Amino acid sequence: MHRPLLLTLLLTCSGTAWSAESCAIEIHSTDQMTYDKQGIAIPETCRSFTVTLVHTGKLPTEAMGHNWVLSLNSDVQDILDDGASAGADHDYLKPEDPRVITRTRLIGGGEQDSITIDTTHLTAGANYRFFCSFPFHATLMRGKLTFGK
Ligand code: CO
Repeated sequence: MHRPLLLTLLLTCSGTAWSAESCAIEIHSTDQMTYDKQGIAIPETCRSFTVTLVHTGKLPTEAMGHNWVLSLNSDVQDILDDGASAGADHDYLKPEDPRVITRTRLIGGGEQDSITIDTTHLTAGANYRFFCSFPFHATLMRGKLTFGK
């Protein structure tokens, strides 16, 4: 007698409405070279996680380009060094860089871009960072990302 009710509650709680709300985030970037979030925590229950980067500024990509790049903390500096060499034509990232877990494209004021992370590619408790690869932006534009734990 109580079982159908319990099942209904479980389905309601684990349904798509809940997932859509908790397994996605919008992060704003500005003409002041900032993100509006310093940290992102992905719940271990999310099979995928969508990040939407919005550039709320007015400056063009060439002057104030922003992207959202995810990697292990230990890979950030090497990715930035190789990205600076790769130049603007490659969004300041070495093409097919295997150290980059995922990334949006480089955008300018008024633009936005989304990526979806397959969380089976993430390790719970690992030390991830997100950052902008535009030259010198990662000094200010970087934050910590965690999955689970
Ligand atoms: Co930037």
